[in-house]
Amino acid sequence: MDNLINKINELKKQRDAVILGHYYLERDVLDICDYVGDSFYLAKKATELENKTIVFCGVRFMGESAKILNPDKTVLLVDNSAICPMANMVTKEDIDKIKAAYDDVCVVAYINSKSEIKRYVDVCVTSGNAHNIIPKIKNKNIYFIPDKNLGGYLAKQFPEKNFILHPGYCPVHERMNKDELLEAKKLHPGALVMAHPECNEGVLGVADYIGSTTGIIDFVANSDNDEFIIASELGMFYELEKQNPHKHFYPIKADQICVDMKKITPAKVAASLENDFDGVVLSGELIAEAKKSLDRMLEMAK
Ligand code: 13P
Ligand code: SF4
Repeated sequence: MDNLINKINELKKQRDAVILGHYYLERDVLDICDYVGDSFYLAKKATELENKTIVFCGVRFMGESAKILNPDKTVLLVDNSAICPMANMVTKEDIDKIKAAYDDVCVVAYINSKSEIKRYVDVCVTSGNAHNIIPKIKNKNIYFIPDKNLGGYLAKQFPEKNFILHPGYCPVHERMNKDELLEAKKLHPGALVMAHPECNEGVLGVADYIGSTTGIIDFVANSDNDEFIIASELGMFYELEKQNPHKHFYPIKADQICVDMKKITPAKVAASLENDFDGVVLSGELIAEAKKSLDRMLEMAK
């Protein structure tokens, strides 16, 4: 492993590269990242870095967002097959139908969507910034794609808006269920429940705190409680344990795993830097059109 890390460091120097990664990665990958964060942090960070090359350890929409925001940089995806299944759950035809049915509708896309879709939406959001962006939208009707759970959660926060929810979901968060969560609470009666808004309504209804991965990490760090049930992907436990060595963290079940995030390995990072493979390739036209909704997100989230 030491040899591999030395090799990655050498390649980073040669290529003027920086490594960004999401909390859901394997621990050995998180250890080689220069910056780790939630989707919003990573998108913002990508616009602040001077390096020529960004190695994006995460799923494809994340690397593509970094490229769209930084068209002149090389963005390496590490493993092109690492995708977010939810990003494939909405089509342009879905958007066209809703636009035809409503005169006054704002199409809001969770950043977990394809670049091709981002060209047709008004603004992107993440779970970490949606609460700042939704109140700034003038339209009453909001078509929220693709995540019905994040959309449903926001609809409850902003009852003055009419949310039209697209029926997409994250398979990892959707399969966590309320009954199993209540069982976990019985086993750990002193634990607070931290839930990502991609969880279904049943789980969110039991949660003590709902927020993005960074939101959960910050809540735990500032809480006096020392036990937490985490309704999100298990990769998060690494940061939680590092920041809070004396606190205890429990999953609902052992299958809270995003198999796509786990495809990224240090060996693949080295190979990607060495051979330049799985660099993001998007047409200039697509980048220019999709960039509008991401730029609007960064602007409105301020
Ligand atoms: P955040 O890290 O933005 O909360 O998103 C979670 C997620 O599912 C990323 O795919
Ligand atoms: Fe997509 Fe869910 Fe994996 Fe996040 S955890 S990348 S939303 S499948």
